Amino acid sequence: MNITYNEKTGCFKLDTEHTSYVIGIVDTERFVGHAYFGGRLLEDDAGYLLRTGEAPFTPETNSRDRLSFLDCFPMEYPTGGIGDFRESAIEVKDEGGHRALQLTLADYHIYNGKKALKGLPATWGSEEDCRTLELVLEDKSLGIQAVLSYSVFAGIDAVARSVRIVNNGTGPVMLEKVMSASIDMDDRDYDKIVLHGSWARERHIDRTPLSYGVQSTASLRGESGHQQQPFMALLEKNADQDRGEVYGMNLLYSGNCITLADKGQFDNVRFMSGINPAGFGWKLEPGAEFQSPEAVLVYSAEGLGGMSRAFHDLYREHLIRGEYRCNKRPILINNWEATYFDFNTEKLLAIAREASGLGIEMLVMDDGWFGNRCDDNRALGDWEVNEEKIKGGLKYLVDEVNKLGMKFGIWFEPEMISPDSDLYRAHPDWAISIPGREPGLARNQLVLDMSREEIQDYVYEKMAAVLRSANIEYVKWDMNRPLSDIGSIALSPERQGELFHRYVLGLYRLQERLITDFPHLLLENCSGGGARFDAGMLYYSPQIWCSDDTDAIERLMIQEGTALIYPLAAMGAHVSDCPNHATGRVTPFETRGHVALAGTFGYELDVTKISEEDRKLIPAQVEMYHKYNELVRMGDYYRVASYRENHMYDCYMVVKKDKSEALVTFVQVLGRPNVHSRRILLKGLDPDKRYRVDGCERARLGSTLMQAGILVENMWGDFRSRLIHVTEA
Ligand code: DGJ
Repeated sequence: MNITYNEKTGCFKLDTEHTSYVIGIVDTERFVGHAYFGGRLLEDDAGYLLRTGEAPFTPETNSRDRLSFLDCFPMEYPTGGIGDFRESAIEVKDEGGHRALQLTLADYHIYNGKKALKGLPATWGSEEDCRTLELVLEDKSLGIQAVLSYSVFAGIDAVARSVRIVNNGTGPVMLEKVMSASIDMDDRDYDKIVLHGSWARERHIDRTPLSYGVQSTASLRGESGHQQQPFMALLEKNADQDRGEVYGMNLLYSGNCITLADKGQFDNVRFMSGINPAGFGWKLEPGAEFQSPEAVLVYSAEGLGGMSRAFHDLYREHLIRGEYRCNKRPILINNWEATYFDFNTEKLLAIAREASGLGIEMLVMDDGWFGNRCDDNRALGDWEVNEEKIKGGLKYLVDEVNKLGMKFGIWFEPEMISPDSDLYRAHPDWAISIPGREPGLARNQLVLDMSREEIQDYVYEKMAAVLRSANIEYVKWDMNRPLSDIGSIALSPERQGELFHRYVLGLYRLQERLITDFPHLLLENCSGGGARFDAGMLYYSPQIWCSDDTDAIERLMIQEGTALIYPLAAMGAHVSDCPNHATGRVTPFETRGHVALAGTFGYELDVTKISEEDRKLIPAQVEMYHKYNELVRMGDYYRVASYRENHMYDCYMVVKKDKSEALVTFVQVLGRPNVHSRRILLKGLDPDKRYRVDGCERARLGSTLMQAGILVENMWGDFRSRLIHVTEA
């Protein structure tokens, strides 16, 4: 990994192990151009790709008009209002109401390490394993600076970008749009991939051809959302899991976001990501700064699999923090699908007693333990233990669970307030709302104005008091509705557009405080299932609840989409009861275990009520988790086949970094009559090593297993699965 500047050629070059990213400066005007992002270049002059020698020439060396130049020049951080008519990365309204900005290079810095982003999640690195370039761009007329920051990491093919806007002018300006990253590329007849979904159907992969004009994937819900992801990939038509060029862009942000591709008149593509400008406005006073979230860009010449592995490595090694970053997580049992709101100390202890005997390591008490929360109509905000339900109090319950040798975890929904709550009766003005307008309810609740520090602090103290009252080692942080009726009494009229982002900053501040004050806490984020499964939240919690759909077959698609970007160990995945509560489907207990193994692994059922036959399988599943968890958590992920594509079966692998071991998961979704075994080509092995494959007598070369493959026998029935362990002989 390295970053260099060649004064002669005017090129900055960022190298990762297999990729290069080149920024070229137009010597006369100091426009900053995006020259190249792709496979590693050995020469450090790719500035010719800026095409400044082709008509229309740069305005200063030729009297041709500036507009024709700006209309096609590949900008590194494009601005609007001056003649570049494609999507701009930034929009600034000055005091006179005008919207024009021209950014040119004023200065640059290259240094080892990486600065933290104030108040925002970001990748981190040491002076040894990370290097950063800062380009200082300025608009001379307004005195606005845009400091573009780029970091590269040892051994990882990814570039992390962000932007800091500084107002060095004399008057305030309104920032109406600030993208985190933008690149201009030549189109190569790309396809695009986005992840779309809904509640219980999150992150399904959608691949379509990229056409002309702007195509975007975005959220306006105040969270990243069930529906879309802060992610897009552009890839060659023939790119698949293993081959072809892929560009992936992922925003580390948990609020309104947009990622877009704009294919233009010269078959050029502008690809960018950042805070969604819709509903956004930020007043920047003279001397003030605005920090954008970070975006990660990955280029892979090894198809989608190469892209996924780069994201996984970056997030595992340079984003997730805390002691659970590299450590095994306890196998938990959560009572939500077991009891919903209908539980008490006795029921929870009965579940814990049975679970501990089976090897389960932590009991998580979900929604319903506080205030008069007997259903989802009330009590959010009243974070006092309901001692009618939790007889003997929380400490008694936790101590009893601890005596069984189990840890204890608890659920909160800190950002919410029920109209029927003591908190709302005391502070009706704490909810986000617009004066004179009845705010809309979702799941019977309103959203607290987390942009206000006094509300953040109140919520924090309430949570901290509960956490200090007993030995609580895990928190599930839930969020069950999007934001609407956007208004804060703490903001002046011209600052109302700041609320969405200030809300997210408040959320981050609160989670940072929680994990700082309770450093041993395992935090799991959640949002009505997986509505806030994003890289922003991963900075605070090493795992995120993937979806309220725990059906093993639905999970194949949800987990495939999630694993396109996020490491397997980040995906909250549990074995639940059947018929499944979301789909009504009945799948074998064994298959549910195999599918949940690809995530954090846990249980979401009443272990005292399931069939004896299923219960008996739990100790073996627990053993399976302990045997394979390190491999799953730290290994390289390879997708072998996708049920989403073939409608028959699913298959993926994890391979240990040193290639001495691998685990293949094969799920036969639909059984077929009269068929032979299925040939599966393994991936990611060392071609020269010999491996023993579960169920095969003879050890074979990795090259044989990858080229000729293994045979997986047909299983009788639907929804059947097999784990195949591969070890170096
Ligand atoms: C939504 C979550 O995704 C569920 O797991 C559960 O915690 C409920 N909320 C509780 O209200």
